[in-house]
Amino acid sequence: MASSPFSSNIDTIMTIERHILEQQRFHPEATGVLTNLLYDIALAGKMIASQMSKAGLAQILGKTGDVNVQGEQVMKLDKLADETLYMLNDHTGRLAVIASEEHKDIIPIPEQYPTGKYVLLYDPLDGSSNIDFNVGVGTIFAIYSRVSASGPGTIEDCLQNGRKMVAAGYIVYGASTMFVYTTGEGVHGFTLDPSIGEFLLSHENIKMPNIPTYYSVNQGYFNRWSPGVQKFTQHLQAITSETQSISMRYVGSLVVDFHRTLLSGGIFYYPWDISKPEGKLRLTYEANPLAFIAEQAGGAASTGFEDILDLQPRSLHQRTPLFIGNTDLVRQAEEYIRKHG
Ligand code: AHG
Ligand code: MN
Ligand code: MN
Repeated sequence: MASSPFSSNIDTIMTIERHILEQQRFHPEATGVLTNLLYDIALAGKMIASQMSKAGLAQILGKTGDVNVQGEQVMKLDKLADETLYMLNDHTGRLAVIASEEHKDIIPIPEQYPTGKYVLLYDPLDGSSNIDFNVGVGTIFAIYSRVSASGPGTIEDCLQNGRKMVAAGYIVYGASTMFVYTTGEGVHGFTLDPSIGEFLLSHENIKMPNIPTYYSVNQGYFNRWSPGVQKFTQHLQAITSETQSISMRYVGSLVVDFHRTLLSGGIFYYPWDISKPEGKLRLTYEANPLAFIAEQAGGAASTGFEDILDLQPRSLHQRTPLFIGNTDLVRQAEEYIRKHG
C-alpha cells in the first residue's frame, strides 16, 4: 500500500460527508443517496443556524400570526426553518414524500421533479416557544425507505413503524450548533465550525452514561399527572445518597433536554396528564427519531407502557407520552405506572 507523504500523526478532519461515506461500508446496498440526503439536512441546519444568529436583528423573531395544524402559534423562525428544509429537499430526486410538523398533510414532491426512494419527516424547529428568549432550540428528522412502489409517495410511506427507520437525527442550535445522527451504527455528533461552515466530528459513538445526572420534566404539571408518574418523580427526588444525587433540569425544548440527557445520563419525560391524555409530543417526528437515537446510545424510550419504536403510527401528528433516557430509569417509570396507574 502506497505510504502517505504526510506524517502519520496529522489529525483526520472528519466532516459529516466523510463520516457518512465511511459508515456506508456497513450498508453495501447504500448508493450514496442517503449520504447526500443527510448532507442536505446538514446544509439546512447551517442555514437555519445562520438565520438564528441574526434573529434578533432581522426582525424574524416573534409570531407570524398563523396558527398551525397543532393549533399552535407559528413563530417566524418555525416557518423559515420549515421552508429551508423543504427548499433543500423538494428537487433532489432523493425523496418520495416529505412530512412536516407545520403541514397538516404530507407534502408531495412537485411533479416537475423526480421522486426518490427515501421519506423525510421533520420538526423544523423544536422548542419554538423559547425562540424569543434566546433559549436553545432544534430541528428533528426521521428518514425511512419508501414502501410505495413508485411515483408520488403516500401517507403509508410516512406512517411506518419506528423500527423501520433508516436514519434519524437532530440539529441543536445552542451555544454551538451540533448535528447528531444515527443510521443504526451508533450515534455520532458533529459541531459546526462557523469559520469554515463545516460540521466536524466532535462526539464519536455517543453512549448514554449509566450514572444519571439529571431528570427532566415540567414539574409545573405535577398535580395533573397519574399517581404512578407522581410517585416515580418523588422516587427520583429521593435519590440522594453518598454515591448519587440527581438534579432536575428542564429547558422546555425537547431537543435540548434530550441532548443533555444523551450526554449526561438521566431521563426526560413528558407524560400524559388530565389535560393531555395522549401527552404533548408527536410520535412520527419527535418521539420516534429520538427513540432510535436513545436505543443506539444504549438507552430506551417508552410511552410508559411500551417501547416507542414498537408503536404503529395511526396519523401524521398523533401524540404520545414519552419517557426517554437511561434504560433502568425508563423501566422504573414503567414499573411505577404498572403499580400505581
Ligand atoms: P415544538 O416547538 O416543536 O412545538 O415543540 C415544543 C415541545 C417540546 O420541544 C418541549 O419538550 C415541549 O413542547 C415543552 O412543552 P411544555 O411547555 O408544556 O413543557
Ligand atoms: Mn417539537
Ligand atoms: Mn416544532
